[in-house]
Amino acid sequence: MIWQKLASFIKFLPGEASHQLAIRALSTGISPRYSCVQLPREVAGLHFPNPVGLAAGFDKNAKAMAGCFALGFGSVEIGTVTPLPQPGNPKPRVFRLPEDNAFINRYGFNSHGMEVVASRLSKWRKTRLADQIIGVNIGANKASENKVNDYYIACLRLAELVDYITINISSPNTFGVRDLQRSAPLKKIIKSVKFALVEKKLVKPIFVKLSPDLNKRDLSSAIEVMISEGVSGVVISNTTISRAELKNIKNREQDGGLSGKPLFRLSCEKLLDAYSLAEGEIKFVGVGGISNVKDAYIKILLGADILQLYSSLALIGPHIANQINTGLANICKGEGLQNLEEICGSFKSFCKANQYAEYAVNTYLKTY
Ligand SMILES: Cc1cc2nc3c(=O)[nH]c(=O)nc-3n(C[C@H](O)[C@H](O)[C@H](O)COP(=O)(O)O)c2cc1C
Repeated sequence: MIWQKLASFIKFLPGEASHQLAIRALSTGISPRYSCVQLPREVAGLHFPNPVGLAAGFDKNAKAMAGCFALGFGSVEIGTVTPLPQPGNPKPRVFRLPEDNAFINRYGFNSHGMEVVASRLSKWRKTRLADQIIGVNIGANKASENKVNDYYIACLRLAELVDYITINISSPNTFGVRDLQRSAPLKKIIKSVKFALVEKKLVKPIFVKLSPDLNKRDLSSAIEVMISEGVSGVVISNTTISRAELKNIKNREQDGGLSGKPLFRLSCEKLLDAYSLAEGEIKFVGVGGISNVKDAYIKILLGADILQLYSSLALIGPHIANQINTGLANICKGEGLQNLEEICGSFKSFCKANQYAEYAVNTYLKTY
């Protein structure tokens, strides 16, 4: 309870200050602890103890991994990490939209750089627990003249220290990054990351993180490239540049990526499209606007093998991963499922998945 109160106090600080405070608390151990609910999923050869992961952007520089896992997440994706350190965009660059349960951020890949992150990861690995899945989300430096090569360099340095690599080509906050989602550059980046893994004699799953603003044609060609290149998973989605139906007047015109509740439907629709295009060839990480058990279940019904969240951790509180995992475990029990894989991707329409998830939550979360 004290942590939930503290979380509501932190909400009154400016967006970036509260983010820094949370990272400091989690990195020094002055933070709450919740159990890691066991609801395992095998995805891309990795054993995830539960499906709820912490999305990239929260622990950008690998400073607070133990603290993040202590909140009950089954996986943590650090980053975005760039090869060289860079400051990101000028402040202010994170904005709360409380009426919308949302954020707009334009951090712009502020990163301590791969060397600093690598040394933190090496240290952390000595104390990590066996089932703590860690991924690194990699990106290109703003000033880089060869952005494709940046993904190669970052993978070469960091891959041996993590369980999976996510190629981030969907941030709206660095000029030109989202253009890398087109077939030709995407193919080159995936090949260069694969080449780095071969050079290091490593076998690690590669995920690619996509934008929710891709049109159907571009989404289709991106999925086609990923299948042909043997990518393990698609993280869908990053933040959106859309501002449809926002209530907040003060901050809605800020440049940057919108996350949280208003992103939920859009990211679900993209997940659904991508899931049907992939025809079972790729795994999916469902991200975007998850703030309760029902949202999480909808993403699973639409094809998400595992999930990630960020905004609701900041807006609702540190118990969110534990709460969602506990709810999902109760739904599984109520529906007589061995695991969530049995129901993953069983709905082809957002409205039907929404209705079914509502029924499941009302039925099983009251009973158990
Ligand atoms: C403040 C902030 C910073 C973020 N930074 C990154 C980042 O560095 N790399 C990345 O891939 N995604 C980043 N994201 C996007 C999240 O990982 C996630 O895809 C998005 O916020 C949607 O999930 P949510 O609605 O649960 O927040 C950031 C999001 C927020 C709110």
